[in-house]
Amino acid sequence: NSVAAAQAVSSQSLASDAECAADVDWENLGFNPRPTDYMYIMKCAKEGNFEEGQLNPYGNIELSPYAGVLNYGQGLLEGIKAYRKEDGRLLLFRPDQNAIRMKMGAERMCMPSPSVDQFVHAVKQTVLANKRWVPPPGKGSLYLRPLLMGSGPVLGVAPAQEFTFIVLASPVSNYFKDGYAPLNLYVEDEFDRASPRGTGSVKTISNYATVMKAQSRAKNRGFSDVLYLDSQNKRYIEEVAACNIFIVKGNMIATPAINGTILAGVTRRCIIEIAQDHGYHVEERSIPVDELMDADEVFCTGTAVGVASVGSITYRNKRVEFRTGAQAVCAELNTTLVGIQRGILEDKNGWNVDI
Ligand code: COI
Repeated sequence: NSVAAAQAVSSQSLASDAECAADVDWENLGFNPRPTDYMYIMKCAKEGNFEEGQLNPYGNIELSPYAGVLNYGQGLLEGIKAYRKEDGRLLLFRPDQNAIRMKMGAERMCMPSPSVDQFVHAVKQTVLANKRWVPPPGKGSLYLRPLLMGSGPVLGVAPAQEFTFIVLASPVSNYFKDGYAPLNLYVEDEFDRASPRGTGSVKTISNYATVMKAQSRAKNRGFSDVLYLDSQNKRYIEEVAACNIFIVKGNMIATPAINGTILAGVTRRCIIEIAQDHGYHVEERSIPVDELMDADEVFCTGTAVGVASVGSITYRNKRVEFRTGAQAVCAELNTTLVGIQRGILEDKNGWNVDI
């Protein structure tokens, strides 16, 4: 029960438990939902605030079949990673940024949201309770999946009257099934991902269901994923279903500006800062697809994806290949990012939360 669970996960009682779970194949985690020990749940009535949440044993949840999230997609998701350092301590990467993004998304989706402190506390508790599921150093991370949903019943289109916040935890490594192999992206020119003044910049659950058709079509043709163009001009690159995109040309690195249709990725922001620190000239602006095809290098960023090198882009039957491997700029930037996340390199910006 949740009381026993809460007692079991005080950091003191877990401090001596530096062991990872047995019988897990840490070499082949991939990106899959794995049952772990606990999940965090917190509820809120429409006009109220979120009450103190609790750890519960991981399992199915009970939901009204009329829940706002099931009927009208009133829901948000987040993604955060926790890493195990060589000395056994755990590091959480920038959870406050996800808390802030969830607050902004909740406002757009007519939902109350946990405060930044409540959010970060919930994520920390979830990591501590599932400490044995944080992979050994260098084998991956514990992926935290905060969800905020309209859980109260609705029939007419309207916000729910009750909301539920949940944090799930699953050990993961590579997002794409081919591991660290460079991605082969297909530029989608039939379907749009987002439109101006829509919810493209919000981490709403419905942004992801809408990309599945184009994505599965491209995967069936051997591509890793789909890159979307802006819906108005069909000319400027936007993002891939689950990650942001960057191009490199000489010393210049560019990524689409945050303009309402692009998700403001936490990894995107970190890579911009790391690249500037490494002496690159970084531009956030509109990038025509022709400029993408003429780049030296292309790469993707995201919490789940990490920093992923793009080996080729196909646009209207034209396939272009890009620099990949150890000489790629993204390899250099990734080494710094991962070094900070794993507690190997100095965390000058204070991005890690030590738990
Ligand atoms: C993440 O990068 O954590 C995300 O939330 C993307 C997800 C849709 C896999």
